[in-house]
Amino acid sequence: MNLKDCHNFSDFRKLAKKKLPSPIFHYIDGAADDEITYQRNTSAFNDIDLVPNVLRGVENVDLSTTIFGKKIDLPFYCAPTALQRLFHYDGEKAVGKAAQKFNTMFGVSALATVSVEEIASLVNTPKMFQFYFHKDRGLNDAVLQRVKAAKFDVMALTVDTITGGNRERDLRTGFTSPPKLTLSSLFSFMSKPMWGINYLTKGKFELPHLQDFVKEGTSTTTSIGNYFSSMLDQSMNWKDAEKLCSDWGGHFALKGVMSVDDAKRAVDIGCSGIMVSNHGGRQLDGSRSPFDQLAEIVDAVGDKIDVICEGGIQRGTHILKALSIGAKACSGGRLYLYALAAAGQKGVERALNQYRLELERDMKLMGCTKISELNRNNLRFRNK
Ligand code: LAC
Repeated sequence: MNLKDCHNFSDFRKLAKKKLPSPIFHYIDGAADDEITYQRNTSAFNDIDLVPNVLRGVENVDLSTTIFGKKIDLPFYCAPTALQRLFHYDGEKAVGKAAQKFNTMFGVSALATVSVEEIASLVNTPKMFQFYFHKDRGLNDAVLQRVKAAKFDVMALTVDTITGGNRERDLRTGFTSPPKLTLSSLFSFMSKPMWGINYLTKGKFELPHLQDFVKEGTSTTTSIGNYFSSMLDQSMNWKDAEKLCSDWGGHFALKGVMSVDDAKRAVDIGCSGIMVSNHGGRQLDGSRSPFDQLAEIVDAVGDKIDVICEGGIQRGTHILKALSIGAKACSGGRLYLYALAAAGQKGVERALNQYRLELERDMKLMGCTKISELNRNNLRFRNK
């Protein structure tokens, strides 16, 4: 199987599985507890059907939208995700350059493996930085200043990782950052020699935003669940978020909002957007899917801030449904991460292009030429 055999999300996933040592594949692929929420994030889209209109003259489709004051050419973007150089040696550089080709936004995680300075020098497309609120206030301040100096467009505070999710696949495989060889994972690392050669020869694995302050994740191995539970500040509250928002002084978002109450409070503290998200099902299993929860949040705050639907997206029609409910855009991690693992920048470009083509085709089949033409009249709940 090669890149040219990848025609959809599940093809990229298969190729990623072929390329990655299993602890690393399962780190991307896995979620919390029984992974019910993870499954629901995608299956929720299938409980609503699209109702197309015809004879509308659809030769030119415009997929652009504006989020956080920036016009992007696609109504979806690459969500910030951690540790990307473990998936492909170019990591965040590959994703950023691919996003730039399509003029969409991309996110850089606090747990990124390429620095914001390097990204800023390479990539012009709108950029979001994802912030973890650490116990170490020196770290928090230093990160904020670096991201400001690198002129990122949006700061997104993650609010759904106050403690580590129970990721049982990681417990079984022994996945850590940096990766360590265990007796049980030895075979899976040895069976992917190219990954090992790249890991050892393409530049040292680093977490450039964190390593001057915490050794966990770079010189001391840790699971991601442990990292969250021990390094992040569990006393984080609305006052902290409000202060961070005002210290940042630009477009600010909360990532991982699921309730109407919290969405309203996000407006009150000065956010310009929220990501309706359950962290890809990786934190609280049994929590509702972003798509299921979208309508009530859009109804409450959609006229005041940008509501982004994040998680579970595997198809252009999923994006179309979320936009019809009233999301300003969609985002996701796995939607480009398998492609990154499969073939680096080329893989991510191929995946983004496929979503773009699907969206263009689906918009035409829906009888729409602009994102603003999508609305809830286009949708019906199954069995209603
Ligand atoms: C995760 C974090 C790091 O879900 O975003 O693994």
